[in-house]
Amino acid sequence: MKDRPTALVTGATSGIGLSVARGLLDSGYTVFMTGRNSEALAREEERARNGPGQALSLACDLSRQEEVERLIATAVTSLDGRVDILVNNAGIATFGMIEESSPEEFDHIVSVNLRAPYLLSRALLPLMKRRGQGLIVNISSVAGVEAWAGSSLYSITKFGLRGLTGSLLSEGAPHGVKAVALCPGYVATPLVAGAPVPPGEMIQPEDLLRTIFYLRDLSPSAVTGDIVLKRLGGL
Ligand SMILES: NC(=O)c1ccc[n+]([C@@H]2O[C@H](COP(=O)([O-])OP(=O)(O)OC[C@H]3O[C@@H](n4cnc5c(N)ncnc54)[C@H](OP(=O)(O)O)[C@@H]3O)[C@@H](O)[C@H]2O)c1
Repeated sequence: MKDRPTALVTGATSGIGLSVARGLLDSGYTVFMTGRNSEALAREEERARNGPGQALSLACDLSRQEEVERLIATAVTSLDGRVDILVNNAGIATFGMIEESSPEEFDHIVSVNLRAPYLLSRALLPLMKRRGQGLIVNISSVAGVEAWAGSSLYSITKFGLRGLTGSLLSEGAPHGVKAVALCPGYVATPLVAGAPVPPGEMIQPEDLLRTIFYLRDLSPSAVTGDIVLKRLGGL
């Protein structure tokens, strides 16, 4: 395990996170996967057994700080303190007009979409800095670049992730650590089932995997700004 590159992927039980975790596993990574769905995690560990990578996992509700802290401790120990790529991907979406939203909804979406990435980055950045390398990818959204009527709570978290990314990059850069936010439009996953665009015309989850590989393969002194991944022909 010591020789394998390693990654921690949140929201690895579905959609983008599942595709990214599988892609990393298939290219030989040890991937620490998390999500609430322990059956899906066990299934992925089993699937990885015949492949070149190694899947490790812990079920975790990222809205609960004590569970995030347990996740961090377990992942860091299991990966021997080495995390090459952190993908803060898990997220939820709620839409509605501001006056119809509630402070409880605000707290919940912030805890999953923003607080958990903050906690994970806060814990792993020092390990990456010490090793002189690392890549933190935060999955934001086009809703983190532009806000619309009805997108307030989601956009607050996705704009916030880009703020977090900027500071991570500034603090990490002198130590060889990179951070980039990916801001896709519609991606064909269960999150947007029912969207007014057929899944076949959406960005595919594998496009996010390809983008992460592209970032990983840049030379140590090169990094992109945040990447807006547009759907051909619209949002
Ligand atoms: N699909 C799109 O069009 C689109 C566009 C732009 C950005 N994004 C962003 O991409 C990311 C991934 O979304 P997706 O489209 O792949 O959605 P998805 O298929 O619904 O997957 C969401 C993932 O997040 C995890 N998750 C949700 N709540 C959680 C919680 N409380 N604790 C732990 N894990 C939790 C889920 O795992 P469990 O159910 O196992 O907990 C699942 O693995 C999100 O941040 C989303 O905002 C998506």
